[in-house]
Amino acid sequence: MLIHSASQTLTLAGGPQRGSELGDLGLIKDGALLIRDGKIAAIGTTSELREAYPAEETLNAAGRVVMPGFVDPHTHALWAGDRAAEFEMRLQGKTYLEIMAAGGGILSTVRATRKASLEELLAQTRPRLQAAFSYGTTTMEAKSGYGLNTATELRMLDALLALNEETPLDIVPTFLGAHAFPPEYKENPQSYTNLVCDEMLQALHSWTTGQNNRKGKAIPLPFVDVFCETGAFTLAQSRQILESAQKLGFPLKVHADEFDNLGGSSLAAELGAASADHLVVTSPEDMAALAASDTVAVGLPCTPFGLAEPEYTPAQEILAAGGILAIATDLNPGTAWCESMQFAIALVCRYMKLTPAQAIAAATINAAAAIQRDHVVGSLQVGKRADILLLNVPDYRHLGYRFGTNLVHTVIKNGQIYSNEEKYEF
Ligand code: NIG
Ligand code: FE
Repeated sequence: MLIHSASQTLTLAGGPQRGSELGDLGLIKDGALLIRDGKIAAIGTTSELREAYPAEETLNAAGRVVMPGFVDPHTHALWAGDRAAEFEMRLQGKTYLEIMAAGGGILSTVRATRKASLEELLAQTRPRLQAAFSYGTTTMEAKSGYGLNTATELRMLDALLALNEETPLDIVPTFLGAHAFPPEYKENPQSYTNLVCDEMLQALHSWTTGQNNRKGKAIPLPFVDVFCETGAFTLAQSRQILESAQKLGFPLKVHADEFDNLGGSSLAAELGAASADHLVVTSPEDMAALAASDTVAVGLPCTPFGLAEPEYTPAQEILAAGGILAIATDLNPGTAWCESMQFAIALVCRYMKLTPAQAIAAATINAAAAIQRDHVVGSLQVGKRADILLLNVPDYRHLGYRFGTNLVHTVIKNGQIYSNEEKYEF
């Protein structure tokens, strides 16, 4: 299939964009691209490709923007229940960390998720994935972390695998057993940390290699993530878990500097983690450490927005230091129930002072780097997956400029076309 007559084709070709390089869209005017077997087979201008492939079936982009599908590199998309009551409590003056310390917050979602069967988890999560997909997310990282015991954590990972198989989305799983201390270990956080290192990571390893489930079918090792924060895991506990995971070969991620700076982002850089995420109260030293590494700095703008807090990731300083910046929704029931990377882009244009071009690169090729998938998705290049968006706009700057409605006209995933254009007649 030949897609032609795009007003602007954003290729994002050339790999992850560091520091001041961020925002290179690789824009082709009146662009076209050829899809074969679910992959991109050629890219160029409409006249070049129509001449080279005259007999090809065509899809007329009709002056729309064509770009890579969004990669959402940080979500907690899988959970049971909701936290609407806590939203109201926060509006009445309680803070997120206060609610968490009183046994609410993450732990209230843990209670609901432990009770949910695999089927219930799938049923509650599917609509969120449908929403994300219709808003243009074609690859999504998603974490466990609402089980906090071996059985429920693995059930969450089973659910993520099932959703990866049954939906067109690519779901990249992350184990976040170190998201909070479960009530059973409230008085003994160090024993829970040891349990994560000794029992859970071992179980995760056998789960991944197919030794204890899924008929012996192996999958790539998931990421292992830790919530390094006051009230969650200390820096020492985070290091213990991440180093144990690394010994078993797992790639790493860290939730760092969301509320308090414990040194999590420097730890991520030191251990060669794929990403350090949140990064609101990150220090200049941490930024230098990130910039000197390949660890991607992931800003999560929907989280301060969702918490109505004024501080966002200091993106300009991270870029000035030479860091690789990506953005994600952080989709979760507590701080940011937002499935839309378009909305994350609108927020970072305003509160992280990114241009639309920078925000788009942070939401595609750099986001792919944050989950170590930049060789397969995140840009329109020959050989990569045909994960493509047609936007209902003539100019890419409408992303960021406009917010709250869906600008995606068509999602193409692995070469398959999904249209958003079922409209009411007025
Ligand atoms: O990334 N910070 C920790 N975890 C999530 C919130 C999860 C929740 O509140 O349920 C986050 O913001
Ligand atoms: Fe998170």
